[in-house]
Amino acid sequence: DSHGNFLNCLHLRSANSSTISKVIYMQNNPSFSSVLNAYIQNTKFITPTTPKPLVIVKALQISHIQSTIYCSKKHGLQIRIRSGGHDFEGLSYVSEVPFVILDLLHFRAVKVDVKNEVAWVESGATIGELYYGIATKTKTLAFPAGVCHTVGVGGHFSGGGYGILIRKYGLAADHVIDALLVDVNGRVLDRKSMGEDLFWAIRGGGGNTFGIVLAWKVKLVQVPPVVTVYTVNKNLEQNVTKILHRWQYIAHKLPDDLFTDVTITKVNSTQAGKKTVQAAFKGLFLGGVDKLIPLVQDKFPELGLTKKDCLELSWAESVLYFGGVSTQSLEIMLNRTALARPTFKAKSDYVKEPIPESGLEGIMSRFLEKEVDVVLMMMVAFGGRMEQVAENEIPYPHRAGNLYQASYLVGWTNGEDEGKYISWIRRLHSYLGTYASKSPREAYYNYRDLDIGTNNVGYTSYEQASIWGRKYYKNNFKRLAQVKSMVDPMNFFRNEQSVPPL
Ligand code: FDA
Repeated sequence: DSHGNFLNCLHLRSANSSTISKVIYMQNNPSFSSVLNAYIQNTKFITPTTPKPLVIVKALQISHIQSTIYCSKKHGLQIRIRSGGHDFEGLSYVSEVPFVILDLLHFRAVKVDVKNEVAWVESGATIGELYYGIATKTKTLAFPAGVCHTVGVGGHFSGGGYGILIRKYGLAADHVIDALLVDVNGRVLDRKSMGEDLFWAIRGGGGNTFGIVLAWKVKLVQVPPVVTVYTVNKNLEQNVTKILHRWQYIAHKLPDDLFTDVTITKVNSTQAGKKTVQAAFKGLFLGGVDKLIPLVQDKFPELGLTKKDCLELSWAESVLYFGGVSTQSLEIMLNRTALARPTFKAKSDYVKEPIPESGLEGIMSRFLEKEVDVVLMMMVAFGGRMEQVAENEIPYPHRAGNLYQASYLVGWTNGEDEGKYISWIRRLHSYLGTYASKSPREAYYNYRDLDIGTNNVGYTSYEQASIWGRKYYKNNFKRLAQVKSMVDPMNFFRNEQSVPPL
């Protein structure tokens, strides 16, 4: 059987079999479930019926990775690479075909060079570990990646990666200047030896597709030692729709030093037994509060921002603030399991024209439907740096002309009703079709959504893959497929949404 053959192959290839034994977890290993479940961020995929890997390889050294590739290829098993396990559809640890998880948890070193404003970070590190590594050395350097500190570097950089510095500096992948990758033949390549096409593709062109990225060299960015954050909440009784409507005209045009987003949720109303919709208007200003207040009063007076809504923090502290983590200490950034793990389904959109008030009311009324409770929509202002980077600079294409990115999520606790929640979010997506980007209806790769199209289990044509591929990558999809043809023509690294060779 391929399973037994795979294991024999691993042992044979390992000069010292005892080291390989230590990193292999088979289904009959008492630790198998805890190793598997430790980094499953969407608990939708922790069920008895979720397909399980035959083996988990928690590699300690590069040779373990090379052997896993060699033996999986030889014995017809697929690989799922896992760094932080935050994939919305669980693609780093679930597959319908027999598979092996290659877990990069042990590849998590972070080396920050303050003088040259660069860092090397291994894929299995979290973005929190990177932020912590920077923050413990300096308050005036940062990195423009995501907000939730438990997100893994490997998947995040492979799909773009945005956070509260997006308007000032763009994406995480925009700041990658070198990388180490193990290719399908087990070769370890850096930027020079992989060449500029492959180096272009791995900066956003998707994980589990071009090889296994071991580590990334990134350019750090400058931030002031003190930044200001704020939150202003408004609900339906406080004119939320009108204020949100205004926000759409203003947010993308603000100075780059001011990032804003809005998170809409369903909360209890002051009237007993009733629910309302609340929007949290948040901001990060790269400067002090005394400059921020007059700026917002001038550009967005409807918000009514006052000093008591604001806090002055270091940049690293501001990440925790946006992540909703209340703590006095940055050490929490090293805790990979600090955040709640929801059961959810999410989707994304890009908005290029303001949604009229009537359209926003339609979103709110869907939030108020009785059948859902844990619902959230996040609107992240674009503009700034995102207007200046060309669509084909790296594979991530959603740049100039977007007012904001909208992402929305439904969560639940009772798995039996899953279908009801999923159909609710699909209806919301179809409702937003009137207002969001069209031809293609764009989506964010890192907010993986298998509803927008998938590959076949067997052969998938470029045309078929283009159905989902153009939504994530627009015209960059073709070049991604060309690179794939060059570096992995047999399509060994693949999953439900990996770029196939041409
Ligand atoms: P995971 O390990 O699940 O990998 C994701 C994909 O990449 C899989 O297909 C995997 O096989 C592949 N992969 C992983 N490591 C690889 C490697 N070393 N080489 C090649 N392929 C590899 N996004 C964002 O832009 N901004 C944000 O603020 C957030 N916030 C956020 C919060 C929470 C709670 C979640 C669950 C997700 C986000 N995200 C996000 C989305 C996040 O960027 C996305 O899920 C990333 O792919 C997660 O990377 P992980 O390494 O954790 O995922």
